[in-house]
Amino acid sequence: MNFLTDNPALYEAQFPDPEHAAARFVDGLVRRFGAERSVLDVGCGTGRDAGYLTGLGYEAAGIDVSGPMLEYARRRHPGVAFTRADMRDFRLGARFGVVTCLDSALLYCHTNDDLVAFLERCRAHLRPGGLLIAEMRNGAYFLSNPVPEPFTRTVVHDGVPHTSHTTLWIDHEAQLLRRRRRWTRPGGEPLDQRSAWRLLFPRELEFLLASCGLEVLALFDGPGPRAEPHSGPPLSGDRLHVVARIKGN
Ligand SMILES: C[S@@+](CC[C@H](N)C(=O)[O-])C[C@H]1O[C@@H](n2cnc3c(N)ncnc32)[C@H](O)[C@@H]1O
Repeated sequence: MNFLTDNPALYEAQFPDPEHAAARFVDGLVRRFGAERSVLDVGCGTGRDAGYLTGLGYEAAGIDVSGPMLEYARRRHPGVAFTRADMRDFRLGARFGVVTCLDSALLYCHTNDDLVAFLERCRAHLRPGGLLIAEMRNGAYFLSNPVPEPFTRTVVHDGVPHTSHTTLWIDHEAQLLRRRRRWTRPGGEPLDQRSAWRLLFPRELEFLLASCGLEVLALFDGPGPRAEPHSGPPLSGDRLHVVARIKGN
């Protein structure tokens, strides 16, 4: 059970993307590197990126493990084929020009085995010449900067203010950024939720991709739809973006 994915409208209020920066970013990369305009969005959440891409002329599909997210996505984006599936073992019986995995969804693969399983599934769903495009937090940033201080955010959902208080810490042994989020709202019991992102270094990601038959065409920290501008060395920013093309066939 996850309070945010169980409440997709709250998810969009908490993490808004009113200008569709993420989907436009994907389209820009597809134009730059070239691929067929059919896309599978893995960890598609509310379906907002797949939905926007259909408006740009893509055929689109999405997978997610969250039933409420998919129900919401189907209602909002009837032109997209949504399937409930785990990113580590999906089998859709179809191939795509582009597979996307956005806003750190890939980092829910916590172990090396999870990551390899995910990348193998992506490869199996790509057409010849197809692209994998992923956007995520940058492990190199979190492992070389102080862990962010706990922070509080309030969003109004169904007319009710929902406040989240988030604490982050690094689990070095598991190479995870762990997160505890306490939700409070008037008249409701506080709710504590825990989750984690895998911390991946850029060259570690490149190695994993190559091991799974995917050649990196671009690997950068910015610009990107959610990247903070920074003046540090390349690949030291808070986000990581990768474009990889299937090798062979
Ligand atoms: C941070 S949200 C990103 C949603 C969407 N990509 C976006 O950018 O708005 C992560 C999504 O990944 C999904 N997810 C987490 N673990 C998953 C898994 N093992 N397989 C498929 N989806 C998963 C969650 O349900 C959630 O919708």
